[in-house]
Amino acid sequence: MSKTVPFTLLLLLFSIIKFHLIKCGTIINKSSDIFSAPAINDEPIIGVLSQEMTSYLRSKYADQYHSYIAASYVKFIEGGGARVVPVWIGKDRKYYEDIMSKLNGILFPGGAVSFTNRNGYAQAGNHIYKIATKMNNNGDYFPLWGTCLGFELITYLSANRTEIRTDCSSHSQALPLEFKSSFKKSRMFKDAPDRVIKVLKDEAVTSNFHTFCLTEKNMTDYHLDSIWRVLSVNNDWNGLTFVSTIEHRQYPFYAVQFHPEKNIYEWVRNKNISHTSNAIIASQYFAEFFVNEARKSHHHFIDSKDEDQYMIYNYQAEFSGAKGAGFEQTYLFPEEVNYMIRRKNFKGQTKKVDNIVVF
Ligand SMILES: *[C@@H]1O[C@H](CO)[C@@H](O)[C@H](O)[C@H]1NC(C)=O
Ligand SMILES: *[C@@H]1O[C@H](CO)[C@@H](O)[C@H](O)[C@H]1NC(C)=O
Ligand SMILES: *[C@@H]1O[C@H](CO)[C@@H](O)[C@H](O)[C@H]1NC(C)=O
Ligand SMILES: *[C@@H]1O[C@H](CO)[C@@H](O)[C@H](O)[C@H]1NC(C)=O
Repeated sequence: MSKTVPFTLLLLLFSIIKFHLIKCGTIINKSSDIFSAPAINDEPIIGVLSQEMTSYLRSKYADQYHSYIAASYVKFIEGGGARVVPVWIGKDRKYYEDIMSKLNGILFPGGAVSFTNRNGYAQAGNHIYKIATKMNNNGDYFPLWGTCLGFELITYLSANRTEIRTDCSSHSQALPLEFKSSFKKSRMFKDAPDRVIKVLKDEAVTSNFHTFCLTEKNMTDYHLDSIWRVLSVNNDWNGLTFVSTIEHRQYPFYAVQFHPEKNIYEWVRNKNISHTSNAIIASQYFAEFFVNEARKSHHHFIDSKDEDQYMIYNYQAEFSGAKGAGFEQTYLFPEEVNYMIRRKNFKGQTKKVDNIVVF
């Protein structure tokens, strides 16, 4: 037998294995393939970004806190089937890189802060947006969701931090969505049950609370229409047509100008927040959609003990609704907030250490 036969066989075997690896590999490289990522992480953990205190919360809580997260966003994610880790403002890029390497997505909540505040929500959002973009470019699926101010933030960041918002009058406004023809083929709605679409289209179920918005003209003027797909629009109290739902064309980034979490979790009266059975079904759809996106990310903490140290469960929400706030429950954080990292001391016992720098 010639000596070259085993070599040829080996070469053949190698190319078969190589072909097989490429074909079956779960590493997704090309951004055009990114959305075919399989949803196999059934224990997703999503970060919710905190933000600067409102003057109202500050007045009710004696100025002892520095940032907050409205609990409705936490419950929204939990109701969709994921767990939540708070993501702090005012940290350096290394912190966001580290925490995002463990999380499966991030939600930018609504609120009211200036994008030019130093060390605030928008600065943190800028780090997160850039890191998420890089991850997705590397085939590492990482979804983002923006609600209301989060919608405005995500578009501001994708316009390279250009202020492109316009004044809008849409406070306490319940609206059905006016779908654009693109919605049917969109990732966000293509698999939505007919009932969800019918409710969103026919009933005033979306809760609007915004004083700024983007018009389609604002999006085209700043070339955001080539980056984002507009899925729905609405008219504010003065008849100005604003963009209400968008999805990124290239990355798993999504944003809504309305508040799906309010229908299920906020009960402030006389604000046109619909609590009908159909409104809940429609809102729940968005939570499950985003959590399903997060299932396609495979980042994880070391183990469940490690997870525990970061979870929102380490913090207690205040009943802020009883003090007249727009949020029934709010997580309030001091300036030096950190995760509940337990470190082994020199005797080998674990000891809780708050507020240590671990990044
Ligand atoms: C996938 O990414 C790796 C590393 O980033 C690179 O070496 C490889 O060529 C890429 N493959 C494709 C098909 O783009
Ligand atoms: C933002 O900046 C990047 C790189 O500098 C550029 O490619 C992109 O077109 C800009 N986007 C917008 C909307 O201006
Ligand atoms: C956004 O568009 C509206 C009209 O559609 C316009 O009045 C407003 O000036 C635009 N804003 C910016 C920042 O271009
Ligand atoms: C709620 O919406 C109705 C129209 O559907 C409007 O007339 C009313 O003023 C709104 N309520 C508040 C508190 O804004």
